[in-house]
Amino acid sequence: MTLFGNKESVKGKKSLVIYFSRADENYAVGYIEKGNTEVIAEYIQELTGADLFKVEPEKPYSKNYKTCCDEALKEKRENARPELKKYLDDISDYDVIYIGSPIYWGTMPMSMFTQLEKLNFTGKIIKVFTTHEGSGLGTVVADVKRICKGANVLDSLSIQGSLVHESKGKVENWIR
Ligand SMILES: Cc1cc2nc3c(=O)[nH]c(=O)nc-3n(C[C@H](O)[C@H](O)[C@H](O)COP(=O)(O)O)c2cc1C
Repeated sequence: MTLFGNKESVKGKKSLVIYFSRADENYAVGYIEKGNTEVIAEYIQELTGADLFKVEPEKPYSKNYKTCCDEALKEKRENARPELKKYLDDISDYDVIYIGSPIYWGTMPMSMFTQLEKLNFTGKIIKVFTTHEGSGLGTVVADVKRICKGANVLDSLSIQGSLVHESKGKVENWIR
């Protein structure tokens, strides 16, 4: 294991990206076919060969931006754990887990909590990334550290959602 200060190397390790992303009407960019966070997840896949797991609530959010914001806020206030279309229940094959999420009301959509709470992260390396429109990482790193016990959470990356298509270089630097 190579250690640089507390920065463990992720090079050559088996990686998985667990992420949430929503297409449809999006803040600042109108209707889009692929969500911003998914664009970053696919860069990571291209750069590292990581597998992808997309967290999808059984009941999708509205395609309308404003309605989606209301639905997500209600879930947050209720501290809900929405059911998912499919669950990931074993990550034992992976060394590095990239956790990617848009910022919803300062943190992750509640379906990310549903999924992350089901997994055993002991001994894993975690790298968090977010896309956002001003909140940066929000409370996501603290939330991930609380949920994913026993993991080594390395440096994180936040990218403005409307700039994802110009951000591949940033992702590459972050992975190194
Ligand atoms: C329900 C909802 C809540 C949001 N809350 C925030 C927020 O608190 N802070 C912020 O900077 N951006 C917020 N945004 C903007 C998204 O984080 C941003 O557009 C992100 O790139 C969307 O990612 P996606 O396309 O992968 O779903 C919110 C968007 C939605 C739909």
